[in-house]
Amino acid sequence: MSTPTESQPVLVAKDLHAGYLPGINILNGVNIVAHPGELIGIIGPNGAGKSTFLKAVFGQVSIRQGSVSLKGTDITGWKPNRLVKQGVGFVPQTNNVFPSLTIEENLQMGIYQKPREFQTQLERIFEIFPVLADRRGQRAGSLSGGERQSVAMARALMMDPSVLLLDEPSAGLSPVRQDETFIRTRRINKAGVSVIMVEQNARRCLQICDRAYVLDQGKDAYTGTGRELANDPKVIQLYLGTLATDVEGAA
Ligand SMILES: Nc1ncnc2c1ncn2[C@@H]1O[C@H](COP(=O)(O)OP(=O)(O)OP(=O)(O)O)[C@@H](O)[C@H]1O
Ligand SMILES: [Mg+2]
Repeated sequence: MSTPTESQPVLVAKDLHAGYLPGINILNGVNIVAHPGELIGIIGPNGAGKSTFLKAVFGQVSIRQGSVSLKGTDITGWKPNRLVKQGVGFVPQTNNVFPSLTIEENLQMGIYQKPREFQTQLERIFEIFPVLADRRGQRAGSLSGGERQSVAMARALMMDPSVLLLDEPSAGLSPVRQDETFIRTRRINKAGVSVIMVEQNARRCLQICDRAYVLDQGKDAYTGTGRELANDPKVIQLYLGTLATDVEGAA
């Protein structure tokens, strides 16, 4: 059915409506597109539906209207294991490692659908995350927040996804670790993985992403390049706060 072309988007969410409780939608028509090689940021207030959006794409919240496609294939409502096989990686906001398993076992879980590729992928991932190689036998539950985040991201990359969904990868980390996380995310993206990243650190997110969306009350309210949004007076006023803005001070 699909007709792949150069410019075909990796992921298209169209008019997405989704929710948890009967009759109550959290997403009320979300439209988000990611092109090959793009790093897409999603920012917005608490409770806007950012995590719900990622969960809906990843088959964890039921979609009531609209569609999701991956490289032209309709993946609306697919289950997570099928999505992983198709090339979608997801790192949830919380509970994203198996604490009682070792780092290596966590990574093994990421590729249980292709066990024969485990060793090859493990070596590839250890090049991106050398710290994990040194500590492969350590239980994930005994790791720091930043290290757990690395394990979770590494696990999602084991299947070599074409799109990686990240929910607040920098949450709860010290400024230095946050920076490392952003730099690593950019590096993974530059290596060819399209990324859709939800972030509470909105300014930093807008600095590193190619394009971004502001999600508010279950809808995409604003979109543009990271720079455009970071300098948009309305976005600044509503979502970024008025402190330390580059564009102000001229009045
Ligand atoms: N499992 C659930 N059952 C019912 N309602 C839920 C569930 N998870 C989230 N919600 C509701 O959906 C709405 C959106 O939540 P969501 O977690 O998507 O927001 P968010 O934009 O990710 O917020 P945050 O920035 O705080 O992470 C909230 O009102 C929340 O209470
Ligand atoms: Mg969230």
